[in-house]
Amino acid sequence: MSSLEGKVAVITGGSSGIGLATAERFVAEGAYVFITGRRAPELATAAARIGRNVTTVQSDISDLADLDRLYDTVRTEKGGFDILVANAGVQELRPLAEATPEHVDKLVGVNLRGTLFTVQKALPLLRDGGSIVLISSTADRVGIPEYTVYSAAKAAQRSFTRSWAADLAGRNIRVNAVSPGPIDTPMIDDMMGSKEKGDAMRATFSEVLPMRRIGRPEEVAAAALFLASDEASFTTGADITVDGGQSQL
Ligand SMILES: NC(=O)c1ccc[n+]([C@@H]2O[C@H](COP(=O)([O-])OP(=O)(O)OC[C@H]3O[C@@H](n4cnc5c(N)ncnc54)[C@H](OP(=O)(O)O)[C@@H]3O)[C@@H](O)[C@H]2O)c1
Repeated sequence: MSSLEGKVAVITGGSSGIGLATAERFVAEGAYVFITGRRAPELATAAARIGRNVTTVQSDISDLADLDRLYDTVRTEKGGFDILVANAGVQELRPLAEATPEHVDKLVGVNLRGTLFTVQKALPLLRDGGSIVLISSTADRVGIPEYTVYSAAKAAQRSFTRSWAADLAGRNIRVNAVSPGPIDTPMIDDMMGSKEKGDAMRATFSEVLPMRRIGRPEEVAAAALFLASDEASFTTGADITVDGGQSQL
């Protein structure tokens, strides 16, 4: 039997990169998925690629009304759900000296505040025995000058994982994180400002990482699948690192 047979999952930021790979894997394992993102065309393309058992909800995790609309859709279509992958996130490079209030508000608003309300507003609909997976980052444990705010927001996600695992243990809802290192997604181009600069950064990552290559979104999806499934039935408050050894060796 497939490991997510009959399960319903919500995956924020499911229209691209790690979220899309996770949605594809979850559907292949028998789940029905709701995927979100701010851009409608990317959502439509992702839904076509996933092919079946998918609903798209155009929504921004930093907008509380959008989150309400997302969960209203889930309630109307499925009545409740079993797995939440809080994956949506944004990155923008700024060393401390150049961190403007707008930069801080954007990265904190999506990666920290947006993740918190994504999970809080899911609680009434998430079934007891369910699983929450936060897609964090190894950025919280390595020092990178331009990552100041991003890394701090991802460190908050690691802390949330522990607090919420304790908070929700009484409902047998497990809360865990996956921390990817550099993964080959459009986020790298967005972060660097162009495809050319993104490719140069991919080449640099491939030189410096212990495994001498950048990661694939499917490799993060595999960790998310483990944590979402009953295979991880005694695992909560944990973090699985998927980084080719970047933060471990
Ligand atoms: N790629 C890496 O090297 C790497 C490493 C460590 C951690 N991560 C983390 O992995 C997660 C996924 O990143 P990715 O690399 O897969 O990036 P990606 O390919 O750029 O995908 C990001 C997804 O999030 C959505 N999104 C962004 N802001 C959103 C918002 N405010 N509300 C709802 N959806 C939003 C995007 O769609 P829209 O733009 O249309 O909203 C898209 O679907 C992020 O949390 C990221 O921080 C990535």
